[in-house]
Amino acid sequence: MKTGEFHNPARKVIGRTIWHYDAVESTNETLKELLDGEVTEGLVIWADRQAAGKGRHGRAWASPPGGLYLSILLEPKEVHAPILGLLAGMPLVKALRHFGVFATLKWPNDAIFQGRKLAGILSEGVYRRETYHVILGVGINTNLDLERLPPDVQKYATSLKREVNLFVANEECLEYFLEQMDDVYSRYRNTPTALMMKEYRGACGTIGKRVSVETAKGKVTGKAYDVTPAGALMVLDDRDERHEIVDGTVEYVS
Ligand code: BTN
Repeated sequence: MKTGEFHNPARKVIGRTIWHYDAVESTNETLKELLDGEVTEGLVIWADRQAAGKGRHGRAWASPPGGLYLSILLEPKEVHAPILGLLAGMPLVKALRHFGVFATLKWPNDAIFQGRKLAGILSEGVYRRETYHVILGVGINTNLDLERLPPDVQKYATSLKREVNLFVANEECLEYFLEQMDDVYSRYRNTPTALMMKEYRGACGTIGKRVSVETAKGKVTGKAYDVTPAGALMVLDDRDERHEIVDGTVEYVS
């Protein structure tokens, strides 16, 4: 149920309007349903919990109360849309650092701290009435109790609450993240994408690491040495073969 609405006219696009819900199935799905009515680019759907939160690659995103769950409606040029999900990782990590956790960005857009995941992004492209939209879903483990996550997730997850002594309110974290995301989106719309990806490369902690990447074609193990302007992860495997990976799940290995 919708419980509130907030406005911030100082924002360029993102977060000028925020709709707050107590519980939804998935904020991404709520936004998709809202696309059938009148909604403007930059609208943010924020929920206190999700009954069927979605992660990348069809995985579930456990969404108990305490966490921050939001989706942003965007209308980028379709050709430039794929890198948007990656670029959103930059403000995400910036927000977590602002609140005291030195998170790093794992390709494509996971925020991790000491090997544990703090936040993730699910970017989905949708057509409605001939307009291409991107729904950018962000989940941040702010104040949730890790015991409320499924046991297999607990081992690899952490939260701001666990890592920081001070309490960080979801409202504050949301505000800061949206401010940074609004800035990135405005630059993304006015700057050549190659330049934005250069910035992403500088922020991506995966480059230079030994990785094992689960892809649709199988597992690739080797050294991650670059991210292309189109957003693909480049890996040099142990037989000196180069792989351009457009989608996959990265694990850091020794
Ligand atoms: C991932 O790392 O697998 C992506 C997780 C994305 C989770 C967020 S929570 C808000 C939005 N709504 C969803 O159903 N998923 C995203």
